[in-house]
Amino acid sequence: MEFILLDFNTEDLQILLFILFLPVYVVTMAGNVLIVILVAFNPHLHTPMYFFLGNLSCLETCYSSAILPRMLFGFLSGDKTISFSACLAQLYLFGVLAGTECYFLAVMSYDRYLAICKPLHYTMLMNGRVCSLLIAVSWICGSLGISVLIFLVSQLTFCGPNKINHFFCDFTPVIRLSCNDTALIEIIAFTVSFVCTLPPLLITLTSYVCIIHSILRIPSTTGKQKAFSTCSSHLTVVSCFYGSLMIVYVLPNISSLSEVKKLLSLFYTLLTPLLNPLIYSLRNKEVKEAVRKTFRKLHKLKIQKRENKRKF
Ligand SMILES: *[C@@H]1O[C@H](CO)[C@@H](O)[C@H](O)[C@H]1NC(C)=O
Repeated sequence: MEFILLDFNTEDLQILLFILFLPVYVVTMAGNVLIVILVAFNPHLHTPMYFFLGNLSCLETCYSSAILPRMLFGFLSGDKTISFSACLAQLYLFGVLAGTECYFLAVMSYDRYLAICKPLHYTMLMNGRVCSLLIAVSWICGSLGISVLIFLVSQLTFCGPNKINHFFCDFTPVIRLSCNDTALIEIIAFTVSFVCTLPPLLITLTSYVCIIHSILRIPSTTGKQKAFSTCSSHLTVVSCFYGSLMIVYVLPNISSLSEVKKLLSLFYTLLTPLLNPLIYSLRNKEVKEAVRKTFRKLHKLKIQKRENKRKF
């Protein structure tokens, strides 16, 4: 009926962990919500790139909220029990959102590839319909395999041990507690994680190789440097995300690796949603300008209100 999440096996550091992880959650939510609001309310950010970034931020607020609030609550209250259905729900949400995020990142790099390497055809190739189609395909690819997998997990029987050695209901630690034979599920899980991570990774890498190739032909050195710094920061967060996901889900389940995998899963559960808005959006000139304009508008509104009050 119930599982117990052991998180980091540290009884005396709970408050410290809470103090460490609370700002991570707050900054993640603030950054991502800010981007969704900016994209929605600034007409000049209504371009494919910002639609993708807005959709990514929207997904990441849900993704963080699937894991962190429960974890923070556990640190604060010491209550580590989670019901079987809540555990499955968390596993499902996390799986669908992580799978979709993999495809989103690939779509975004393909969009940048078209914009930089095929600028003359860009507006024709990346129109509103194609954007929506790519987003829909990402959601479908991200959720199909996981849905089958979660259905299979829900059919397992759990009859004895209920301590999950992890900070959320992750796939491997949960099925390890089952008393059924899990060989088939593990093969399907391997296939699903392979299909969710490898093709997007290849698309992303190919796009960036083409982008870097065309950057090298820019004559000015400052232009080159700027483009390189943008590309390398994107590539760093993307490889952190795919790399840690692949090590955790595609590598075989050796128990000696389980502590390492637990630490690595901090990369894709905490770090990626925290860094993505900073790296992808808040560095851009257009976004900075949009932030400035929005604040100026708010300021003007305030002054107007004050004046109206005075008139009355
Ligand atoms: C997501 O993308 C679609 C276009 O495909 C767009 O209409 C929508 O506004 C985007 N959502 C956000 C939150 O940016």
